[in-house]
Amino acid sequence: MAEKVFIFDTTLRDGEQVPGAKLAKEQKVKIARQLAALGVDIIEAGFPASSPGDFESVQAVAREVKGPIVTGLARAIKKDIDTLWEAVKGAKRARIHTFLGTSDIHIQKKFRSDREKILQWCVDTVKYACSLCPDVEFSTEDAARTDFDFLCRTVEAVVKAGAKTINVPDTVGYATPQEMADRIRRLKERVPALDKVILSMHCHNDLGMATANTLAGIHAGARQAEVTMNGIGERAGNAALEEVVMAIHTRKEIFGHLRTGINTKEIMKTSKMVSALMGLSIQRNKAIVGSNAFAHSSGIHQDGIIKDRSTYEIIRPEDVGGSAHSFTLTARSGRAALKHHIANLGHKLTDIQVDSLYQKFLALADKKKEVMIEDLEILVQEELFKVPETYRLEHVQILSSTQATPMAALRLRRHDEVIEEASTGNGPIEAAYKCIERIVGKKFRLINFGLTAVTSGKDAIGEATVRIRDNGTIFAGAASSTDIIEAAVKAYLNAINRWVAEEEKTKATRKAKRKPAKKLAVASP
Ligand code: KIV
Ligand code: ZN
Repeated sequence: MAEKVFIFDTTLRDGEQVPGAKLAKEQKVKIARQLAALGVDIIEAGFPASSPGDFESVQAVAREVKGPIVTGLARAIKKDIDTLWEAVKGAKRARIHTFLGTSDIHIQKKFRSDREKILQWCVDTVKYACSLCPDVEFSTEDAARTDFDFLCRTVEAVVKAGAKTINVPDTVGYATPQEMADRIRRLKERVPALDKVILSMHCHNDLGMATANTLAGIHAGARQAEVTMNGIGERAGNAALEEVVMAIHTRKEIFGHLRTGINTKEIMKTSKMVSALMGLSIQRNKAIVGSNAFAHSSGIHQDGIIKDRSTYEIIRPEDVGGSAHSFTLTARSGRAALKHHIANLGHKLTDIQVDSLYQKFLALADKKKEVMIEDLEILVQEELFKVPETYRLEHVQILSSTQATPMAALRLRRHDEVIEEASTGNGPIEAAYKCIERIVGKKFRLINFGLTAVTSGKDAIGEATVRIRDNGTIFAGAASSTDIIEAAVKAYLNAINRWVAEEEKTKATRKAKRKPAKKLAVASP
């Protein structure tokens, strides 16, 4: 049976230390509920002595959130510990987490003290916390830079004083994975009493090694990981929950003897909630939860994924609650990828249609850099519901300002003929539509016009739809472009081209009716 690695989530405490990320009580409770659904073992809900507001938030989480152990942080000061206990004691399972700096830098520069006094202070603090709560965690702050012999003595003493979890933080993100693993292994060898308690990792990301250091410590025998969602936290942040958990889940040959209680399918939802409520956006290439984490853009990779996803995918996006891998189509995505996505959208196109669509796709990719699946859907619709382009837009120029009457200058091609017109209008679209009517030589009744953004972002594609009426028959047109005027003009021309096609069909039928039917020659026997 695999051994459990306890996931201690400190998003609401270390994560909330990010400037500007302060949460209101209701927001903390909402995130804490989601952390419970995610399956974390311990929620560090705040630092209750830091403010009355944070006290209330931690108290609300302790009372309202069921499942995980609820804790908060307290300095090694009686007043802080009392306040923390008051905040968490309403939880079904509560923990007191307290800490003291044990490195010489902290002892001498922060406390102006010496190792013996600090050791005693640690022991007295733990004993006091244990008099209030049976579950006490002690953190030897700046453990990665603490003299190893002194760290062993301190850890041994606080375990004897009653601490059930010993946290060995790399407070300043200084260690390397090798050093962290070494420290944990040697600590376990030197302090046999650690067999009865949980050793915990708490790594900061100043050198970008927080996740690696946490995993190295776990591999060496630590059984609790202190992490935050999206890796947020003081300065460069903490080890990211999603990275630590997914590494344990994914690399079975290394961590197969371990398991976590995390429901990985809740990862994406939790990540988005934390990002939205704390106002901290997630970098696109962030491992596991970034918007590009499962987006394959190069043609070679897309081709590989289509053949077999294991070629370029080590985690299935569905396993972390994401939607199936997204392909960001760029000008480098090949025809094969395009064909695959068209089929995925449920369309069957002939090779000729795919060729034509591919050219349009390349033109759009040049304009937009990244083509989304929604953009592709529009291109497919346009290809499928094509009418002969009797009138084709060559050029449109708009002059529009808040002071002057809008003006449009338009150049259309009708077969080999190029026709130009200019007009004013109440708005730029009306001006352009007037030009079209002059060129076509007919006024249509516009019965409907719509403009919607189909994709997101400032470079979104706008889709224009129009409906015109002639003699009781309605002709619909649609077109899309990153330029909304171009989309509107093309949609109108699309409807007019349908009208032209219908007119020509009617003329052809009339002509056919006027011609006498040829007599069939009957062969004689
Ligand atoms: O980084 C750190 O050392 C901490 C402790 C107080 C646990 O956040
Ligand atoms: Zn920290």
